[in-house]
Amino acid sequence: MQIGQKENERLRWITLNSSDTDIPEGTDVIEGLAQTPKTLPCRYFYDDIGSALFEQICDLPEYYPTRTEQAILEAFAPEIAQLTGPCELVELGSGSSRKTRLLLDAYSKIDYRLQYWPIDVSAGILKTTALDLLDRYPALRLCGLAGTYEQALAQLPRTSLKNRMLIFLGSTLGNLNPTQCNDFLTLIQQALQPGEFFLLGVDLQKPTPILEAAYNDAQGVTAAFNLNILSHLNRQFQGDFDSTQFQHWAFYNTVEHRIEMHLRSLSSQTVILQDLNLKVLLQAEETIRTEISRKFHLPTLVGILEECAIAPLKTWTDPNAWFALLLCQRQCINQDCP
Ligand code: AVI
Repeated sequence: MQIGQKENERLRWITLNSSDTDIPEGTDVIEGLAQTPKTLPCRYFYDDIGSALFEQICDLPEYYPTRTEQAILEAFAPEIAQLTGPCELVELGSGSSRKTRLLLDAYSKIDYRLQYWPIDVSAGILKTTALDLLDRYPALRLCGLAGTYEQALAQLPRTSLKNRMLIFLGSTLGNLNPTQCNDFLTLIQQALQPGEFFLLGVDLQKPTPILEAAYNDAQGVTAAFNLNILSHLNRQFQGDFDSTQFQHWAFYNTVEHRIEMHLRSLSSQTVILQDLNLKVLLQAEETIRTEISRKFHLPTLVGILEECAIAPLKTWTDPNAWFALLLCQRQCINQDCP
């Protein structure tokens, strides 16, 4: 971990380098493109352009998750603050932190000390957001962590406050397959002390037309977001993907209960990623799966969380039960309670 400039008393930056792990950058790209069907890790969506496109997606009329989760938070953030008491807020994949502002408002209203650690792979959005938040909350202390949440969770120092709450909103949990999801929840459990909190927002199962519309918006913003992964890879690994030779494709897989986003190759083509020493052959019509977005069955998810010793304390949903917010608490394991 490398500490960047210490801007002032209230603001700190930490840049998490890939050298923190032993795996060379791009290994996941090589592995994904060697699979049948080909896949790409969805983390490559989020360069500065991709993060900005994702912000636009959140405001689309078809993309219901953001506004639905926001409405739940608007209604229940004060109750969440009451339930947790004073605690440090650590947000994984914070982006513009727009929903977290509702929590910051709730904690500041009851005069709790405001300590916020946003974690995001996009340093650009992290910085803009941090400066904006410091302006808005004069008592806020903020430490921005630029890196992946795996890197951050493995290296989070103990909090100086009585408690900590890890926050994972927007149903980003749905972008992990079941194995990755279990590994992730284990990391969460290990990063928390018994009694500390985990606030989780998840998208729930619902009729296919509503889901498919959310990932095939009329303005084509989701298509641009999907295609941007290729420009990001070109820049990062000296690649020559031609994005005009690919088409966005998203559908709901009713067996796996997940949206799948793919890029369909419009011709038979060869792509080179020089820095990865990689040559990829694509047939016409072949697809690269760029994302899964799982839609959860709430009782099943509650069981999974309980198995990981992060049991839900209270759950809130919207009136349609499209989205759920779960306040979980780290349980004692093997008598590790004080
Ligand atoms: C970040 N994640 C939860 C979004 C989702 O809905 O799975 C990413 C996204 N992909 C297309 N639209 C939004």
